[in-house]
Amino acid sequence: MADEIAPEQEPEEKEEERATTNGQVTRRQFLVGAGVGAVIGIAGTAGVLTLVHPTAPVEQAQTVATPSTTSATATASALVEGTKLIALNVNGRDYEIAVEPQYTLAEVLKRDLGLTGTKLGCNGSMCSACTVLVDGVAQNSCSLLAIREVGKKIITIEGLEQNGKLHPVQAAFWDNAAYQCGFCTPGQILGAVELLNKIKNPTDDQIRAAMSGHMCKCSAYPNILAAIQAAAKQMA
Ligand code: FES
Ligand code: FES
Repeated sequence: MADEIAPEQEPEEKEEERATTNGQVTRRQFLVGAGVGAVIGIAGTAGVLTLVHPTAPVEQAQTVATPSTTSATATASALVEGTKLIALNVNGRDYEIAVEPQYTLAEVLKRDLGLTGTKLGCNGSMCSACTVLVDGVAQNSCSLLAIREVGKKIITIEGLEQNGKLHPVQAAFWDNAAYQCGFCTPGQILGAVELLNKIKNPTDDQIRAAMSGHMCKCSAYPNILAAIQAAAKQMA
């Protein structure tokens, strides 16, 4: 039988091999090291975590059942000093992520989980562009530490759509053109969802009061008000 032929090395692998021999740091090693805050676990099928070693290429991922204390401990031991392995539930999926204690929830959502629908405006709890739902409560994710959100259910704008169908508030914003540039829109929508989950038929004044922290530089406020009233009728 003919000997098995080794697969051709990718250019990056060759570069890595050469640089390792020379004691240099390759681009891949740098990126992996810089991404310590990266996702190291993404829930695949229900109840299964795909753990990705934070210092290994993604293709070396191992799949384990959750919870997996042994695997989590093994992974945690490989973390860069100062980082912590935390579990977050976002949009109904479980993630294990290596974070530094000062990382905000907004940073982790956008940078590490790739949920870029969450917007950063002021990054200082003044505009509400970064609003997400935490256990059903609208919160400024720029002002929450990710390590303090363990065990809570986090919903971002990406998590509102169900089975390819927009949430009634999303549909109402679309139908009423309740935006111009759209930068504030994810936060506005999640703020409105929290409001309509609490008050079924809010008055205009109740909507204005509930949404008062949501800044819109484009001043789309009249259309936002109309959209929330339309969504209230749909959800009643
Ligand atoms: S970006 Fe969070 S409140 Fe402005
Ligand atoms: S639509 Fe532009 S900031 Fe609100």
